[in-house]
Amino acid sequence: MIRSSIKGIGSYVPDKILSNEDLLKMVDTSDDWIVSRTGIKERRIADKNIKTSDIAAEASKKAIEMANMKPSDIDLLIVGTVTPDMIFPSTSCMVQNNLGIKKAAAFDISAGCAGFIYSLSVADSLIKSGQFKNALVVGVDVLSRITDYTDRSTCVLFGDGGGAVVLSANNESDRGILSTHIHSEGGHDDILKLPAGGSNMPASIGSIENHEHYIKMKGSELFKYAVNYLNNVAKEAIEYNNLNPEDIDLFVPHQANIRIIEATAKKLGFPMEKVFVNVNKYGNTSSGSIPIALDEAYRSGRIKERDLVLIDAIGAGLTWASSLIRW
Ligand code: UT7
Repeated sequence: MIRSSIKGIGSYVPDKILSNEDLLKMVDTSDDWIVSRTGIKERRIADKNIKTSDIAAEASKKAIEMANMKPSDIDLLIVGTVTPDMIFPSTSCMVQNNLGIKKAAAFDISAGCAGFIYSLSVADSLIKSGQFKNALVVGVDVLSRITDYTDRSTCVLFGDGGGAVVLSANNESDRGILSTHIHSEGGHDDILKLPAGGSNMPASIGSIENHEHYIKMKGSELFKYAVNYLNNVAKEAIEYNNLNPEDIDLFVPHQANIRIIEATAKKLGFPMEKVFVNVNKYGNTSSGSIPIALDEAYRSGRIKERDLVLIDAIGAGLTWASSLIRW
C-alpha cells in the first residue's frame, strides 16, 4: 500500500515585528485586551516588496533541503492561500518558477485557514493514487495586505508567514499521513469574508472608500463554530484511526486564539503539555498557521520520529479539516 509521508519541513516568517504596543498607537485597544482575549503578543509583517510566493519559496527551500532533494524531484506543487500574489496565474506557478521546479503540476487551494490541511489532503490522495511521487505542499498567507489597520476588532489578530512540507510516496504501512478529513459548509460568508476584488464586487472607488478590500469578521460568532467543529474533526481523526486521545503525542491546532485552543484541548481531554502553541508570537497566519507550528514543533524537539501528531484548522467558508500523522 502506498502512503505519503513528510520527508522535509520548513517555514518562514518576516523579520518585522508588529507588537501589541505598536497597535496601541494605531487603534483604541490595550495589551491586556489583546492578550486576555486572544493570547497574541506580537505578529510578523512582510515588507512591501515581499509577496506571498516569496515567503512560500523561502519555506519550501528549507523543506526541500531537509528532504535531501533537488527542486527537480518535485512533481506536484500545491499552495494553500487566500492571499495569492495575484488572482491569476496561481501562486503555485510563481513558486514553481522561483524555485526552478521544471516539471510539476501546480495549483492553489483556497480553503481559508484550513488551506494547508486541504492541500495536504489533496496531495496525499494524489500520491496514494500513484500519479505523483514527491509533492511540495505549502500553506502561506500575507494577511497584512488584506487587514484593515483602522478596525480594532480584526487588526490585532493577523500576521504573515508560511510553511511547507515535502510529501513523498513510501511503502511503510504504519508511517506518514494516516488520515485526512476535510469539510465545508457554505452560507457563512456573513461571519468571515473579503468582500471586494472578485466578480461579486470588482474594485471601484466606492469599494476602496468603504474598506471593502479588507477582512470582515464577526469574531464571537465564528468562535462558537470554531470550538465545536475543531473538536468534532479532531475526534473524527482519532476515531477513524481506532485510537484514544491518550495515544496522541502532540496536538498542533490552528493558531487563531489561545481561548479556542484551550477550549478545544479541554473538550478533547488533551493536557496543555500535549498542545503546541505559538499564537503568542505570530497571531493568526491563516494557511501558514499549521505548517509554521509543525516546523517549530519539529525543530524544537517537540515532535520525534514516529510520534503521532494531530493537526486541525477552521476558516472562511466555513471550511475545517484535520489530519493524523505518524511522523
Ligand atoms: O482563523 C479563522 C478562525 N478565526 C477565529 O476562529 C476567530 C474567532 N474569534 C475570536 O478569536 C474572538 O471572537 C475575537 C478575539 C475576535 C474577539 O473576542 P471576543 O471575546 O469574542 O470579543 P467580542 O468580539 O465579543 O468583543 C467584545 C468587546 C466589544 O465591546 P462591547 O461591544 O462589549 O462594548 C468590542 O468592541 O471587545 C471590544 N473589542 C475590543 N476592545 C479592545 C473588540 N476588539 C477590541 C480590541 N481592543 N482590539
